[in-house]
Amino acid sequence: MSWHATLEGITKRLRSQQSAIIADQNSSNREKSLRRFTSKEVSALLGITESHLRNRVSSADAFPQGTLLGKSRYFTLEEINAARRWLHDNTGNQRYRPGKRDGEALCVVANTNFKGGVGKSTSTVHLAQYLALKGYRVLIVDLDAQASSTALFGIDPARHVGRDAAGHVLPAGTSIHGWISRATGDENAAATDAVRRTYWPNIDLVAASAILHSSEDMLKQRSMPSMHGPMAEVDWHHEVRAFLDHVGDAYDVAILDCRPDINMLSVNAFSAADGLIVPVLATNMDLQSMTEFMAFLAVTERRLLKLYGKDIWRGWTFLRVLVNRYVATSRPQTEVVDSMNLVLGPLMIRHPMVETSALGSAGNMKWTLYEYVPAKSEDRSYKRAVAAMDAVGSVIEAEILGFWGRRPQEGADAGYGVAAE
Ligand SMILES: Nc1ncnc2c1ncn2[C@@H]1O[C@H](COP(=O)(O)OP(=O)(O)O)[C@@H](O)[C@H]1O
Ligand SMILES: [Mg+2]
Repeated sequence: MSWHATLEGITKRLRSQQSAIIADQNSSNREKSLRRFTSKEVSALLGITESHLRNRVSSADAFPQGTLLGKSRYFTLEEINAARRWLHDNTGNQRYRPGKRDGEALCVVANTNFKGGVGKSTSTVHLAQYLALKGYRVLIVDLDAQASSTALFGIDPARHVGRDAAGHVLPAGTSIHGWISRATGDENAAATDAVRRTYWPNIDLVAASAILHSSEDMLKQRSMPSMHGPMAEVDWHHEVRAFLDHVGDAYDVAILDCRPDINMLSVNAFSAADGLIVPVLATNMDLQSMTEFMAFLAVTERRLLKLYGKDIWRGWTFLRVLVNRYVATSRPQTEVVDSMNLVLGPLMIRHPMVETSALGSAGNMKWTLYEYVPAKSEDRSYKRAVAAMDAVGSVIEAEILGFWGRRPQEGADAGYGVAAE
């Protein structure tokens, strides 16, 4: 008895089912695009009052005008970003110009845990969108062949990522595999082919697909010291970092969505990262697996330090544990979070991401909280989930500012967590 024919048949049917779902989501009447934002949201994002915003709209010709629908004015994210530029140019105030400044480096954040289903992809995309709304230029690098972040942007990994039979680049780009498999000297073309714009004006994506398994094989081969000189190990560790060094000027933050286990690409992510976020669920089983993960991170850091030395590898500036799918009324969960707070202290992000039906429910599977417009009946729980996500975003934003040597926002992580540190 062999299974491969049955499995291949099932794969084919599932692929076409998934393609149909994505095609439906992208069809002209349900096109995946970014919603407009209300004046209230825009003034909050810009950090000005609503009346200030109204005055700017009516008095400054060059200030983005938004679109009047009924009595309310709505703005696209392009317009919000243009408003920020206007405010910066006309007031000189640096707070309207977020992101890295001259001489500052791209901040690389890796979302990682060797457990699956904990929210690595969910937090990757939400963090990217939180930062994009704040005006940062973000690059997401999907390093997981499961391609969840990729799919969240309405891309069908099986049909849109990689190259076609004739070798032409498919619409969603070549993935990091395009970079890893480049010919020497082809850095510029390989980088350009790997990156694609998304319907978020300041989020670009390096998509993923099953092709990343080939990257794995390629890196494994290169990691065999017998096949190459003494630098071989450094080299295969360094591909993601080398890629980010190549494209990084155009971005403030890169977010790496990692695989749920340790492979060559995840080691690449660890060596490329300036900060780590470890999403976990508040269950005893996850607590145990997190323990092992922490032990593993310790070994990895030692190894990277030994390999590169402190001068080359600048190490992880921050490492934060993020509780996901938190239900405040669940006694077992609050107990697990209590023990995490106690043991992890300042490593814990004191704002969990909360369980919400706006994510994960079949119909909305491909919408994030920042894209989703809730029905009236869902409004309260939706708002709670967004507020929790915003709080998580602001903690990580403060870490990123810290990476650039700037003072993190006051009280950004006061938190509603349990134990005092
Ligand atoms: N806070 C949440 N509330 C509800 N569902 C969630 C939440 N976070 C994640 N999910 C769902 O859980 C599943 C796994 O999340 P995902 O981000 O893909 O995890 P990972 O990338 O770690 O494997 C997805 O279906 C996602 O929609
Ligand atoms: Mg994932």
